[in-house]
Amino acid sequence: MNQNLINLPAKVKNIADLQQMKHAGQKISSLTAYDASFAALLDQAGIDVILVGDSLGMVVQGHPSTLPVSVQDMLYHTQLVNRGNQRAFIIADLPFMSSATPKQAAKNAAMLIQQGGAQMVKLEGAKIEAIQFMVQQGIPVCAHLGLLPQAIYQLGKYAVQGKDEKQAAKILADAMKVEQAGAQMLIMECVPEALARKITEQLSIPVIGIGAGIHCDGQILVVYDMLGLNLGKKPRFSKDYMQQTGTVREAVQAYVAEVKDQTFPAQEHSF
Ligand code: KIV
Repeated sequence: MNQNLINLPAKVKNIADLQQMKHAGQKISSLTAYDASFAALLDQAGIDVILVGDSLGMVVQGHPSTLPVSVQDMLYHTQLVNRGNQRAFIIADLPFMSSATPKQAAKNAAMLIQQGGAQMVKLEGAKIEAIQFMVQQGIPVCAHLGLLPQAIYQLGKYAVQGKDEKQAAKILADAMKVEQAGAQMLIMECVPEALARKITEQLSIPVIGIGAGIHCDGQILVVYDMLGLNLGKKPRFSKDYMQQTGTVREAVQAYVAEVKDQTFPAQEHSF
């Protein structure tokens, strides 16, 4: 038997566990993974949620954005992650244009769940009709608001969103709409800490932040960023855990511990 598996918590995480964690005030730890080895390592370190993010387009495939990633790419990487994982909750991204219509979203989501092994799909933006349609079909949905990397050509740059009152009010209104549409989780990317706090307090679903401050129900980072392996410049909201540990395993364990005891993110990682 693999010695690393001996201390695994037996229970496989589900959405009810994550919901319960929010209500108990226990922080949810999450990282991206794109293959079986990283998935196993994260899982064994006690991560709650693994996101097979379309960030793989940048960190694995070497593209300048996430736009070239296809549903087939997402399916392949979700299958790899599912093979390495035993207990963490797996979310797979719907990549650019794969949720352009509600039917298309549901068809692609079903593939990521049925063939890939994901337990939930994530889509960028307040695509209310697509969320409602998927939820009607029994598909668990995670929404993603704030900075939307798939909209990079509209935005022009990767920058903090919701800094002025009008933008912040729109993001808050969208957050409430996605919850009403049936989304069971929300990722908030690169928004001021105060806005993420308000959203986290007003929503009953778990809100996971990346560059969104300490008050979210949980935190997520791109695994390559927190291992100091980024090809470009390190995002301000990330932290290189390899600097304070000697191994990848210890780095992931340190991240999980800091999310749980709320020492990550610090002010320097927040906006
Ligand atoms: O694709 C991804 O890795 C993501 C995270 C940045 C949340 O969406």
